[in-house]
Amino acid sequence: MTDGLPVVRDPAALRSAVARLRAGGARVALVPTMGALHDGHIVLVRAAQASCGRVVVSLFVNPTQFGPGEDFARYPRDEARDGALLAAAGADLLYAPTAAAMYADGFATTVSVGRLAAGLCGPFRPGHFQGVATVVTKLLVQCAADAAFFGEKDYQQLALIRRLARDLDIPTAIEGVATVRDADGLALSSRNAYLSPEERRVAPVLHRTLAALAEAVAGGADTAPAIAAATDRLAAAGFAPIDYVAVCDAETLEPLARVDRPARVLAAARLGTTRLIDNLACLPRR
Ligand code: PAF
Repeated sequence: MTDGLPVVRDPAALRSAVARLRAGGARVALVPTMGALHDGHIVLVRAAQASCGRVVVSLFVNPTQFGPGEDFARYPRDEARDGALLAAAGADLLYAPTAAAMYADGFATTVSVGRLAAGLCGPFRPGHFQGVATVVTKLLVQCAADAAFFGEKDYQQLALIRRLARDLDIPTAIEGVATVRDADGLALSSRNAYLSPEERRVAPVLHRTLAALAEAVAGGADTAPAIAAATDRLAAAGFAPIDYVAVCDAETLEPLARVDRPARVLAAARLGTTRLIDNLACLPRR
């Protein structure tokens, strides 16, 4: 228990607890997280509650989605704080499995989602999306929820989770929830905690640049010069390296030369040691 919130730590205990939550015909939602919760996660919990009534939140800092040299060791971990926030938000169950419960000795199966994982963040984080796809598949199968809720901030992740659920006939509905932002536009992220005060001041330039890019290409202009201008603006603000700035089909994530269908503008860039990502919808104006 954390502040009255029941906690389970392995798939068998999760299954029994979810069966109890379903008693009387209730619907159950899953909100997968790696902890270090912020208001963006609480908005996911509220959306899950509104849709399904009962909410299971998973908390697992999944080692297989961090590459060598990434922040697995320093990723913020505070289960008591996260549990208290979830209890206050009205979640019904915390699923915080041990690494051994998730990856038994001899674990050998991976899920990979083809082209959706190949572009954007894919080349900069080798193995990341395979780690995400594998752990999310396990969480979806373990919980067997009616719906699972993910933030649009990790848009490529959301697109590939939708795809894997369809491809593997997982009956859980995959729901995307709009990115929650600070007043100055910075998308909430557990990694914002790494930013120095000066980097935090600069960080909202990422959102402003994407908003200007979406505005520039929504009318059907060539995307290449607008992407180049956005990249220059990020570099001038101090982002380095800039992994990508892209305008892509909103579903397939294939790059677009012109916005002639629902699109997404996306970027990833580093400020100091912190890698920030963000994205916005971009609908064709004509
Ligand atoms: O978005 C995250 O926090 C993680 O990638 C997820 C979906 C919980 C899988 O570990």
